[in-house]
Amino acid sequence: MQRAAFQRAVLNWFDQHGRTNLPWQQDISPYRVWVSEIMLQQTQVSTVIPYFQRFMQSFPNVHALAATPLDNVLHHWTGLGYYARARNLHKTAQLVSDQHSGEFPNTIAGLCELPGIGRSTAGAISSIAFKIPATILDGNVKRVLARFSATEGWPGKSDVVQKLWLVAEQYTPEHRIADYTQAMMDLGATVCTRSSPNCNQCPLAGDCIAYAQDNQTQYPGKKPRKILPVRNTCLLLIHNQDGELLLQQNPPAGLWGGLWVLPQVESEADIVASCAALGLEVVDQHSHTIKRHTFSHFHLDYQPIVVNTIDRAHSVADTHNQVWYNRENPLSLGMPAPVLALLHP
Ligand code: ADE
Repeated sequence: MQRAAFQRAVLNWFDQHGRTNLPWQQDISPYRVWVSEIMLQQTQVSTVIPYFQRFMQSFPNVHALAATPLDNVLHHWTGLGYYARARNLHKTAQLVSDQHSGEFPNTIAGLCELPGIGRSTAGAISSIAFKIPATILDGNVKRVLARFSATEGWPGKSDVVQKLWLVAEQYTPEHRIADYTQAMMDLGATVCTRSSPNCNQCPLAGDCIAYAQDNQTQYPGKKPRKILPVRNTCLLLIHNQDGELLLQQNPPAGLWGGLWVLPQVESEADIVASCAALGLEVVDQHSHTIKRHTFSHFHLDYQPIVVNTIDRAHSVADTHNQVWYNRENPLSLGMPAPVLALLHP
C-alpha cells in the first residue's frame, strides 16, 4: 500500500471514528500528554481516566509535581500498578522543573534522556504535544502493524520490534501528525483488538495481509509461555489496642518500592517472635483464606492473618517508615492494591 493511501485511510477513519473526548486531549500541553502517556503504558484508558483527573487536580503543572514528596505521588498511583512508573515520573518532573526551566525537551533524543520515557512515549509526546512528526509503536500499534504487514514473531524480541519500527516509520506522515498518532492508537484499541478484531470497520483491511490470510489473531506472535513461579507469604494485619493497623514503608527500590505495606512473615510460627521484636505482645490471631496477586514475573500467594496485639510500651512509634494506620482517619499513603483491599474491604 502506498504511504499516502495508508495515511489518508487512517486519517479519514479518525475524522469519523477517532476519540476526541479523552481528558488528556483537552488543554493539550507537554505535561498533560506526558503524564497520560506514562499512565497509559500497560493500562487501559477506562482505568486511567479517574487517575489522570485526580492527578491533574493535585499536580496541575510540572513544578507542582516536582515539589510534592514521592510518597504523595505514590499515593495518587495506588492501584495503578507498575510503581516504577510513578517513581520515574517524579524524577523526571524534578529534572524538567530544575534543569529545563519547566519546559519539556521537544526532540526525541532529549525526551528519551528522561527517566521512564522510551522511544514510543517520546514519539507520542513529540507528535501529540509538539506536533513534530515522530513515530510511535506502543502495544496497540504493534498489533495493527504486525497484522497489516504479517510480521511474524513476538515483539518482545529485538529483531521483531525492529521490523515493526521500520513499518511504522514508513507510514508516518509529515502532516496531521497528532491526529495520525491518536488514530493509530485508537485503531488498535477499538477495531484491531486482540482476540476479535472488527475487520469490516477497518480502513486498512483491503491491504492487510493477515486479513487476506484470515489469520489475524496469529499476530503479533505470542510471548513464549513461561510458567510463573509461586511465592508464599503471610501478610499480617497487626492491630494495637486502639484498633489501629501497623504499616511499614518498603525501601525505595525493588518490589512495591517506596509503598506502604503490611509486615510479612514466612510462616505463622514466626508471628509471636516478629511481634516481640517490635515490642508487641500478641493477644490472639486468626487466619483468612489465601489469595493470589500476580506480578509480571511471579505469583504471590498471601495469607492475610489478623493479629491483635498490645503495644504496652508504645514501642512502635510513628517513624519515617512505620505508622499505626487508623482506618477511620486514613493517611494519604501509597499502597499496593492488595494491601489497600485488605485495609478497606
Ligand atoms: N494509549 C497510549 N496512549 C494513548 C492515547 N493518547 N490515547 C489512547 N490510548 C492510548
